[in-house]
Amino acid sequence: MSNRMSVLIVDDEDYIRDSIKLLLEDDNYNCIEANNGYEALELLEKREDEINVILSDIKMPEMDGITLLKIIKEKYPNKVVIIITGYPSLETAVETLKMGADDYITKPFNVNEVSSKLQKAIESSKLKKEVILLNDVVSIYESTKLLSSTISQEEIFLEVHKNIIGEWGMSGFYVKLFDRKLSFQYADSRVIDYVNEEFSPKNVIIIFKKVDVFQFNIQYDNKGYSCFLFPMYSKNGLWGIFCIYCDAKKKISDIRKHIMNTYVGEISLALQNSLAYIEISDGYLQTVTSLSNAVDAKDSYTRGHSENVKKYSTMIVEEMGFNSIFEKYMTYAGLLHDIGKIGIDTYIIVKPDKLSSIEFEEIKKHSLYGKEILEPITFLGDVPYYVLFHHEKLDGSGYPYGLTAHEIPIGSKILAVADSYDAMTTDRSYRPRRNAIQAVEELDRCVGTQFDRDVVAAFKSALKKKGYI
Ligand SMILES: [Fe+2]
Repeated sequence: MSNRMSVLIVDDEDYIRDSIKLLLEDDNYNCIEANNGYEALELLEKREDEINVILSDIKMPEMDGITLLKIIKEKYPNKVVIIITGYPSLETAVETLKMGADDYITKPFNVNEVSSKLQKAIESSKLKKEVILLNDVVSIYESTKLLSSTISQEEIFLEVHKNIIGEWGMSGFYVKLFDRKLSFQYADSRVIDYVNEEFSPKNVIIIFKKVDVFQFNIQYDNKGYSCFLFPMYSKNGLWGIFCIYCDAKKKISDIRKHIMNTYVGEISLALQNSLAYIEISDGYLQTVTSLSNAVDAKDSYTRGHSENVKKYSTMIVEEMGFNSIFEKYMTYAGLLHDIGKIGIDTYIIVKPDKLSSIEFEEIKKHSLYGKEILEPITFLGDVPYYVLFHHEKLDGSGYPYGLTAHEIPIGSKILAVADSYDAMTTDRSYRPRRNAIQAVEELDRCVGTQFDRDVVAAFKSALKKKGYI
C-alpha cells in the first residue's frame, strides 16, 4: 500500500481538476476526482480510509461547496477540507472557515500556495487528532482511577455516563450481564430489547472469537444508530456485553473503538468488584443475623430486640447524615450489641425479679464478652468497640469503664439510645412497655447525663418522620 496522501478534488470544471491534479501529482499526492458534491460523498463513503484531504470548489451546480463542507464535517469530522473560491472576498473566506473548513485557496492558483496550504492543513489536522486522542486517553485514565476506587454502583454509573454521554457525545449505553441483573443503563428500550433478543451468551461467544468489537445498525423513530458491542470478561470468561450507540451519522474511528473497548474492560472490573462486595457483605449480614438471633433466643422477652436496635440505629445514622460505610457498621453493631450475653448464665438473663448485686456484676460483663467475641472478625471494623462501650453514660456512671462524654465513640452513643428506646417500648417480665411519647420523654430527661444530645435530637426527628411520635 502506498504511503502517499490522497486528495479528493471536487470541481465541475474538468480543466480546473486537471490543473490541480497536475500540481499535486508533482508533489507526490495521489489524486481522486469528483465532478460534483454527490459524487464526492459517494467516493468518501466507499474510500473513506484512503482519502485524507478534500479540495472542493465553492461554486458548483447541484450541491455547492459550502453544503458539501457541512456534510463532510458532520459525517467525517477528522477529514481535512480546503475550499477553492473564485471570489477572493474576506467574507467568503471567513464563512468557509466558520463552517469548519481547514483553509481556503483563491483562484487563480499559485503553485506554492496550493502545496503549502495543503501541507499546513494536513499537519494541523494531524495535531488536532493527536490532541483529541490525548484528551481521550487522559480522561479514560482519570476515569479508570475513580472506577477502581469505588464499590458503589451509583458512582460507577455516574462516572460512565459522564464519559460516554458527556465527553464522547454518544446517545446511550446498555450493560447486559448474563447471569445477574443490573439496573445500570442509559438506553432506549428498543435498543435494550434488540440486544436482549439478538445476543444470547452462546452467540456472543462466537462473535467475540472473531472480532474485538461487533458493530450493527438499528433504526427507530426514523433515525439510524450505529451500535458497538463490546465483550465484558471476568476470570471465568465472558460474563456480559456492553453496548454503546450513537447517531449513525457520527463516524467512530478505529482508535476510538479501541479506547472504548479498553474502557469497557475497566468498567467490567469495577462492576465485578462492586458485585463481589455486595455478595460478601450480604453473606456477612446473614452470619451476623444468625448470631444475633442466637442471643435473642435466650430470652423470649427480648426476641427481636437486636433487630429493633439495628432498625433504630440506622434511623439515627441516616438522620445524622453519616456515610453508607458507617451505616453498614451500625447495622452490624445494632444486631450484635448484646452478643456477649451468650457468655452469661441464662438464669440471670431471664430472671423476672430484680437482680442481686452479684448477678448485676455478672451481666455487666456482656459488654466485654461481646468485644472479645467480635474482635477477631476483621470485617466488623470498629464495631467491637461500639459494643464494648454501649452501656457507658455521658456522666461517667456507665460500665464497664465509666467513660465520659468525649471518650465514648459515636457508634456507642447511638447504640445506647436505640437500645434504651427499644427496652422501654417493649414488655419485660418485670414491667409493661411505655408508649413512644413516654419513652422519648425519658430519653429527653437523660440527655447530657446518659445520652448524647445530638443523637437524641436526630432520633426524635427520625421517629417523627416515620410517624412513631
Ligand atoms: Fe447491652
